[in-house]
Amino acid sequence: MVLTKMGNPFRGGSIRKPNEAMRLIVTTFVGVIFGFFLGVSFPTLSLTKLNLPSSLFPSIDLTYIEDKYSGLSTNSLLNALSSLKGRRSSSSGSYMLNDTQIWVPTNPPGAERLPPGIVVSESDFYLRRLWGLPDEDLTIKPQYLVTFTVGYDQKKNIDAAIKKFSENFTIVLFHYDGRTSEWDEFEWSKRAIHVSIQKQTKWWYAKRFLHPDIVAAYDYIFIWDEDLGVEHFDSEEYIKLVRKHGLEISQPGLEPNNGLTWQMTKRRGNSEVHKDTEEKPGWCTDPHLPPCAAFVEIMATVFSRDAWRCVWHMIQNDLVHGWGLDFALRKCVEPAHEKIGVVDAQWIVHQSVPSLGNQGKADNGRAPWEGVRERCRREWTMFQERMASAETAYYQAMGVDPPNSTAR
Ligand SMILES: *[C@@H]1O[C@H](CO)[C@@H](O)[C@H](O)[C@H]1NC(C)=O
Ligand SMILES: *[C@@H]1O[C@H](CO)[C@@H](O)[C@H](O)[C@H]1NC(C)=O
Ligand SMILES: *[C@@H]1O[C@H](CO)[C@@H](O)[C@H](O)[C@H]1NC(C)=O
Repeated sequence: MVLTKMGNPFRGGSIRKPNEAMRLIVTTFVGVIFGFFLGVSFPTLSLTKLNLPSSLFPSIDLTYIEDKYSGLSTNSLLNALSSLKGRRSSSSGSYMLNDTQIWVPTNPPGAERLPPGIVVSESDFYLRRLWGLPDEDLTIKPQYLVTFTVGYDQKKNIDAAIKKFSENFTIVLFHYDGRTSEWDEFEWSKRAIHVSIQKQTKWWYAKRFLHPDIVAAYDYIFIWDEDLGVEHFDSEEYIKLVRKHGLEISQPGLEPNNGLTWQMTKRRGNSEVHKDTEEKPGWCTDPHLPPCAAFVEIMATVFSRDAWRCVWHMIQNDLVHGWGLDFALRKCVEPAHEKIGVVDAQWIVHQSVPSLGNQGKADNGRAPWEGVRERCRREWTMFQERMASAETAYYQAMGVDPPNSTAR
């Protein structure tokens, strides 16, 4: 509905017949009277809420009407009109009517000019048809999302992994080797989303294509590497355990067969889930802190929708390897030592297949992987420094001493 200061109140092309216009005038008059009493009896009634009944009053110049009945505030008038139609907004948003324009401060930034009813601020990866009714497009609405960052050389492994994810999962593949059409040999490939950009890392893709508003349809988001053995893993069972134990950030336990770095992510044979561990002497300053608790690795991480919304914001655009992120995940959930954990009953094998890590640049007699590894380490330091200075800046701005537990 467009409201203008000047002009014919019945400009709308839909009102032609005199008797229609008459009916409208009568309705409006009743509305104005009603609004007057409403305004008089409830002067503070939801003055900020405004829901224009645009289909009932197409293109009426409300300011014009107000001029005719000066003494009534525009707000009470509009309130009355909207109550007439019985569709008063119950949202808590504070709506405003600028001189001539819609302005809704509670809309997403930049979309304030739109009536809230048309604003769609979140999306999904659901595939749709070109024909038929939109609400009949989806026979099943996947509640979960799984992404793999893949090269075609790992196709056997990925095929096996994807077969472990039920139809309740949307599948997204990030291709770092530019080979996408070859995957069509697999039936599931047709329902997968393929994103192909050469030689980028999992966290680079995640930052660009998994914005929380884009993946808002999914309860859980799996962001996985390509070299995971999933023989002993069942995705639906995994989700059940994660829900049962309230894990916002999790990973499957790792079969402890080849030189694991961390105790925390080792699978335990006798439990469903664990949330803490003992480490080598001196590694943990606090039993509630990484790497003894509040900690999972970044190879097979699973996020709840809310946790991902936070973690996405923590990912730095230029730090592509994600090193150090594992130690900082705890900043996103509270209490972290209860909401971050390892699922033992559904476990995986980390096969450590060299892949993207090998695709660095040979340089000064060093193998390609060496430069990549060096950058990983450097990024880890840079990330720690950024986090530390961001926290320091925050506490300084608040004029308080940083709590000890945030120091690393
Ligand atoms: C009116 O709308 C403009 C944008 O067009 C906005 O900047 C301004 O804050 C609004 N004024 C009020 C009173 O809401
Ligand atoms: C998919 O989810 C629904 C609802 O949670 C569940 O009933 C169904 O068993 C799931 N499908 C599979 C294959 O597990
Ligand atoms: C913080 O740590 C310092 C020394 O490490 C200690 O003296 C102080 O009591 C601690 N403060 C709190 C609130 O734990």
